[in-house]
Amino acid sequence: MAKKHSNKLDFDTGWHYDPAPESPELAKLKDSYDLFIDGKFVKPTSGKYFDTTSPSSQKILAKVAEADKRDVAKAVTAARKAYEGTWSRLRPSERGKYLFRIARVIQERSRELAVTESLDGGKPIRESRDIDLPLVAAHFFYHAGWADKLSYAFPGRKVGPLGVAGQIIPWNFPLLMAAWKIAPALATGNTVVIKPAETTPLTSLKLAEILQEVDLPPGVVNILTGAGSTGECIVRHPDVDKIAFTGSTEVGKLIRKTLAGTDKRLTLELGGKAANIVFEDAALDQAVEGIVNGIFFNQGHVCCAGSRLLVQESISEKLVRKLKDRMETLVVGDPLDKNTDIGAINSKEQLKKIQGYLKVGQREGAEIFQTSCPLPKRGNWCPPTLFLNASQSHRISQEEIFGPVLAIQTFRTVDEAIEKANNTPFGLSGGVWTDKGAKAFHVSERIKAGVVWNNTFNKFDPASPFGGYKESGFGREGGRHGLEAYLNISETGGNR
Ligand code: NAI
Ligand code: MG
Repeated sequence: MAKKHSNKLDFDTGWHYDPAPESPELAKLKDSYDLFIDGKFVKPTSGKYFDTTSPSSQKILAKVAEADKRDVAKAVTAARKAYEGTWSRLRPSERGKYLFRIARVIQERSRELAVTESLDGGKPIRESRDIDLPLVAAHFFYHAGWADKLSYAFPGRKVGPLGVAGQIIPWNFPLLMAAWKIAPALATGNTVVIKPAETTPLTSLKLAEILQEVDLPPGVVNILTGAGSTGECIVRHPDVDKIAFTGSTEVGKLIRKTLAGTDKRLTLELGGKAANIVFEDAALDQAVEGIVNGIFFNQGHVCCAGSRLLVQESISEKLVRKLKDRMETLVVGDPLDKNTDIGAINSKEQLKKIQGYLKVGQREGAEIFQTSCPLPKRGNWCPPTLFLNASQSHRISQEEIFGPVLAIQTFRTVDEAIEKANNTPFGLSGGVWTDKGAKAFHVSERIKAGVVWNNTFNKFDPASPFGGYKESGFGREGGRHGLEAYLNISETGGNR
């Protein structure tokens, strides 16, 4: 079979797609970005900047300001002033109009934002274009609708905003996580100081431009770039009323310790180790698509990724054969190419972590399978990987790898499947594949996880609350439950 292009597509026919890349020019990047405080872009007090690079081409994309304690103080002061002077006094329907405008401009600039996301973070353009951006806009639209209906969300209770929300987000869904944090905070009348992750700051900075474009009152949203120490300054600032964090369990635990004994509210959305449970009566081809989507989607950089597969013993051989065949068709490569299924691993550190687990899994005695898809020479890449015959005690079955790596175990009975699915420190999500409705309900009710999908996986909607059990964190984002995290709800109500 002649291989004209490095991309594999159909190994039976030998067909290959020609490359179909989006142009990086569409991102319209500036050379350098400042901090967004009080409605303006301002230089960092320290004068320090850091580079953000593309995890695929390894090129430097832009210089980005590094905020320190002094910048955090300025941003919190601006947010407090905006909260007291403008935002909490505005008619709720007016707040809703701003959210609608943000959503509309995001739609207008969605191509630019999608290309930026794929350049900066490494995710395939097909995902940033078809999943991230539509969900970002949907999240703002959804919360725009709630702004003047909060009393209907909590009938018979009085609701009021908390004040200034400090928000820290990760690199796996950069703009989507910003939307998940900012939209509910603004809809409920709070103001915001938010920090994107250091490897993916660019779409948040473009969002700052959008906030200027829609004339959002200054100080309502402040966007500070920087690394963990900047995040820590936000967490420790005494005039922040609430912290919302999405990221590693390790940092989540640290934040919880820091906030112990303070009256700051906290929500944490941390790691996961979800299982897709496939019963012998499931539609297998459909299940294979769900498994592939569950773990290889976004390079496995997904907290609710289906990183474990529990398959009923009677169909295990057949399912694994189908899964391997499907995996062989997956294209790993240029995130900007519309044919790419699996993009670049977000950072060298993350790639090292994944590669470490590939060694651990083999040392522990699981059998490794990787596809033969050629990988680009430059950049951070990991082919889709299976670990067969994993056991419950293996680290690859217990710890979050956050890469395109699936640990496979078998089970015989329903009870064994439930027992194994729940036997990790996490509880964020799960998947149940069966033809029988009663079985789906029986198993789903017993999976200790915030979201359980039935005969599908990784489906999101702003109306549906998302969040974890156990070490996956607490608090919900999205839906009516997500509003609660930004409100004082009481019989008497009012502000603090
Ligand atoms: P991380 O938890 O260090 O980073 C997430 C965010 O927290 C970033 O904005 C970072 O700058 C900030 N941060 C770091 N240290 C902080 C501190 N002490 N105080 C306040 N903010 C702080 O995650 P990292 O190191 O990028 O990834 C490590 C592992 O965490 C991954 O391999 C993955 O397993 C997990 N992870 C889980 C995510 C999820 O969505 N649940 C997202 C990102 C990572
Ligand atoms: Mg980057």
